[in-house]
Amino acid sequence: MVYPTLSLADRIAMVTGASSGIGEATARRLAQEGCRKLILLARRADRLEALKAELEREHDGLACLVVTCDVAAELERVANLPSELPAEFAEIDILINNAGLALGRSSADQNTLADIHTILTTNVTAALALASAVLRGMRARGRGHLVNVGSIAGHHTYAGGSVYIASKHAITAFTSAARHDLAGTPLRVTAVSPGAVETEFSLVRFGGDADKAKAVYKDFVCLRADDIADQIVYAITRPAHVQIADIVCLATNQSGPMDIARVGPSLGAPDSL
Ligand SMILES: NC(=O)c1ccc[n+]([C@@H]2O[C@H](COP(=O)([O-])OP(=O)(O)OC[C@H]3O[C@@H](n4cnc5c(N)ncnc54)[C@H](OP(=O)(O)O)[C@@H]3O)[C@@H](O)[C@H]2O)c1
Repeated sequence: MVYPTLSLADRIAMVTGASSGIGEATARRLAQEGCRKLILLARRADRLEALKAELEREHDGLACLVVTCDVAAELERVANLPSELPAEFAEIDILINNAGLALGRSSADQNTLADIHTILTTNVTAALALASAVLRGMRARGRGHLVNVGSIAGHHTYAGGSVYIASKHAITAFTSAARHDLAGTPLRVTAVSPGAVETEFSLVRFGGDADKAKAVYKDFVCLRADDIADQIVYAITRPAHVQIADIVCLATNQSGPMDIARVGPSLGAPDSL
């Protein structure tokens, strides 16, 4: 017997890093899938307000709440975030813990304290603090799904990414450990661990250098933010007894974090396949 997939109708979801890339695409998909309340968190308020306006216009009955927050600079706030939410948004069913970044491609002997601090605080400390705060409420209510956006860099290593790699290995480990802690509850914990996805990620990594960022995605058909949103929706809509542990996904022409066959657009544009 195949059990029915879960409906997202009337669910309350929070997406961190919703101003761009994977988070923005996921917010759009969650709205399409019927979530009725979306909490959109990032630093760039203008982008979040534009997304809120678009989604509320396109989806009858949807209400979005913009939370402008620098998760690295406001850790106390992050650790108590559910308590600052209006009552109608406070009972989060789905947390997409996605905000994150890499900075540069320095060797392990050249990392700066500032970059180490920013990457680990954003990708690890804030993500774990938010997860813990939201899971507490989920456990009390007896329902909920935590999705941590990890990376192929949380499973494999490469030269020139030691701090980012360490941060994403921490996310893989936390996700697995949280699953142990919550195994006796109805709560589910999932990691989604992509390879190269064309977003603003590389622009941020290379300090705004558009040419360097573009080169990352050159001459192969890379993943799109919508592909990852699709995987997140797959995980959270499985029947209640099914817990997707980790979705590790690469582009067809990628075989490891830095192993990319730059064979050109031989697969055609994604939307023409
Ligand atoms: N793109 C890839 O190839 C790839 C591969 C594997 C994993 N990932 C992971 O996917 C996640 C999303 O990245 P993306 O590719 O969508 O990159 P992106 O387009 O640069 O989006 C990153 C998001 O994180 C938010 N963010 C960064 N620092 C923040 C802070 N201090 N406080 C609050 N929000 C913050 C950004 O919002 P603001 O700037 O507005 O704050 C933005 O919305 C990250 O965890 C990344 O590590 C990406």
